[in-house]
Amino acid sequence: MIAGDPAVIEPGALPRHVAIIMDGNGRWAKQRGRLRMVGHYAGAKTVRKIVRYAAQLGIEKLTLFAFSSENWRRPPEEVSNLMKLFMSVLQREVKLLNKHNVRLRIVGARDGFSESLQQRIEFAERLTEHNDGLQLNVAANYGGRWDILQQVRFFSEQISQGVLRSEQLTEALLNESFARSSVSDVDLMIRTGGEHRISNFLIWQLAYAELYFTERLWPDFDEQEFREALASYVCRERRFGCTTDQIRQMIQTG
Ligand code: IPE
Ligand code: IPE
Ligand code: MG
Repeated sequence: MIAGDPAVIEPGALPRHVAIIMDGNGRWAKQRGRLRMVGHYAGAKTVRKIVRYAAQLGIEKLTLFAFSSENWRRPPEEVSNLMKLFMSVLQREVKLLNKHNVRLRIVGARDGFSESLQQRIEFAERLTEHNDGLQLNVAANYGGRWDILQQVRFFSEQISQGVLRSEQLTEALLNESFARSSVSDVDLMIRTGGEHRISNFLIWQLAYAELYFTERLWPDFDEQEFREALASYVCRERRFGCTTDQIRQMIQTG
């Protein structure tokens, strides 16, 4: 048992797949009179902490929204610094992830990245592809509509080649295809930073997800807040089977 782990949440009740919109880095920095990038650096530390915690808890899949297809609209300097950060985090963390049996996948239009970043992504994915611990998906240059468009293109091609008839295309087939080439169905989606929107994150995969929004800015997000989200999910899953006292106990344990 992990120190500080809410043992009261049965492992079987935990969400198998958690997705997070990591928002609020810029505001966090601004509140401290610092440059936005300082918030992104702090946000990268939170990523490390939360990945470790998710792995400890035995969550199967964690999908993190790191950079949206719309984030290219930000000032060029911020975009370029974010790319550098992405590059250095990949370089620095991949061996550790591998050591902890994490399987890493980068999901998104990677042809939008520089050649060297693409190579680093491929290296990281290859290094960790046989790991069977936490599946960590990082959505980068990702958009939910883009994701759906890839499936539309793939299946139109199959149909036009006569490999598949359109009436054979089912939800289950699409689901399998998303899981294989992108991300599978999400159980719990968390958004930090106080906004109540999806911002073109996973669209198909969130259809049945429980949504948890918190005011907490991403650099301040921690294990305690993560537990609160999990506890809220567990209670919703049980359709209010829990009592308020039990929820408090789950949140405070640790
Ligand atoms: C999320 O934080 C990180 C990225 C989108 C890369 P923001 O940079 O959006 O932070 P706020 O929303 O401006 O505070
Ligand atoms: C969503 O955050 C994207 C990521 C967290 C990577 P944004 O800050 O870009 O979203 P909007 O602009 O508030 O919708
Ligand atoms: Mg934001």
